[in-house]
Amino acid sequence: MRIEVSVGDITTTSVDGIVVSLCEDSERFGDSNAAVVAVDRLLNGAISGMLDSKGIKGKPNEVTVLHSLGRLSANLVAVCGLGRQSEVTPDRVRDAAAEGCRALRKVGCRSVGTTLLGAGTVGLNAEDCAQAIAEGAVMGLYTFLKYKAPEGPDVERVSIVVTNPAEVGALSKAVNTGVVLAESTNLSRDMVNEPANYMTPSRMGQIAQDLAGTYGLSATVWDKDDMVSMGMGALLAVAQGSAEPPRFIRMDYAGDGTGSSRIALIGKAITFDSGGISIKPSDSLAEMKDDMAGGAAVMASMCAIARLQLGASVTALIPATENLPGGRAFRPGDVLKSMSGKTIEIMSTDAEGRLLLADAITYAISEGMSPLIDVATLTGACRVALGTIYSGVFSNNEDVADRFMEAAVRAGERMWRMPLADEYRELNMSHFADIKNTGNRYGGAITAALFVSEFAGDTPWVHVDIAGTSNSTKDSGVTVKGATGVPVKTLCEFARQGIATSRAE
Ligand code: BES
Ligand code: MN
Ligand code: ZN
Repeated sequence: MRIEVSVGDITTTSVDGIVVSLCEDSERFGDSNAAVVAVDRLLNGAISGMLDSKGIKGKPNEVTVLHSLGRLSANLVAVCGLGRQSEVTPDRVRDAAAEGCRALRKVGCRSVGTTLLGAGTVGLNAEDCAQAIAEGAVMGLYTFLKYKAPEGPDVERVSIVVTNPAEVGALSKAVNTGVVLAESTNLSRDMVNEPANYMTPSRMGQIAQDLAGTYGLSATVWDKDDMVSMGMGALLAVAQGSAEPPRFIRMDYAGDGTGSSRIALIGKAITFDSGGISIKPSDSLAEMKDDMAGGAAVMASMCAIARLQLGASVTALIPATENLPGGRAFRPGDVLKSMSGKTIEIMSTDAEGRLLLADAITYAISEGMSPLIDVATLTGACRVALGTIYSGVFSNNEDVADRFMEAAVRAGERMWRMPLADEYRELNMSHFADIKNTGNRYGGAITAALFVSEFAGDTPWVHVDIAGTSNSTKDSGVTVKGATGVPVKTLCEFARQGIATSRAE
């Protein structure tokens, strides 16, 4: 799909369908929204008529498709709601663009025209809107069709139609940023949507090498013997039950060389989590191919960071393995020696993600990286606590955490700060080893984060639990059913702001 910025009039642009927007509480259309007013006039008041009869309300994610009956160049019109005028943000614009494009694809449109939506409606920054529309179109139209035939034609072109030729250069640049962020999110979705019989640890290693070649990154993929020499006893214990060989993947982006330190993005990549000997109930097994979503997100972020040529130096670290039961599998009661030297008593082989993170974090610290950002589908408890829209964020450093949360807001990905509660640290204490790998029944997302924090020590560290948010059961705005690609955009935003401006160094 191609996204372009063109100069013209939305009512006469030659496309199959157009997207226009309106707010929930505007007096009819509000003063400044020229596009929807012009379209409504040409449609003989079809839109205002539906507003009067409350068929259209302008609520967020609302989309109504009308036929133009030959009164516009486009055959079809998607009228998208932006919600209350005072609440319109680029997030709403992104979702409206996604809903509008999806609705028009459903009725067969191959080309779509749109105005700047929020920019015209409530005066948002035009470049922010252009980027949001590009992200909305690319993410909202995402499909995973490797194993299935498409239901109809796809949208091939989206034109953002503006009136002022002087704006085109800056808006095209913003569109490019949006396209890169959205394509990278979709790349992460592609990896997560793949079944576990395809997306094995060695396949992830191969993909890392291929992507590195394409985007000018360097990649190193270590195998089991290398991990043995590095002393990664925690990661190796998880891997020992599977016939699929594990991988430890590193990708490096040089940056402009001005930063004083290298950001580490660490992603949990369990390509299938059966729970191991502490096997999961059968109902929860099928979704466990998603347990590499953290690894996929950091890998995809590296591609975006390279394509956008950000200044920061960034490394991705991806410990990848399956977690299966079997004759060689690790057991509850086992005591492991992690790379850090700390011993870990296994209470549940299903609490395996924190074991991978422990060794990957120790490796990152041994390489002098800082800050550390880990992303993991770590706990069902986080999904219980925050639901399926908000990811949980834990940190040992207020400054880095603040910057991370700001990046999430700019990216439009929902995150909620959770406490790294010292009071609960004792729940991870073991009678036989330095630490055990589960707490008790309560606060499971917190005790998991506390476990990981023991390995981060004083190094500035942020932990993002995406167990609730890595997947969606429905289409909504930029989110589509299946993998969400969260938090690729936040990681890029965090890297964009870079360590150059870091107040923490
Ligand atoms: N991969 C799971 C967490 C998960 C659960 C992700 C649901 C997505 C949806 C993780 O490895 C796990 O099994 N965690 C256990 C920890 C428990 C044994 C302390 C959990 O959450 O039940
Ligand atoms: Mn598990
Ligand atoms: Zn897991």
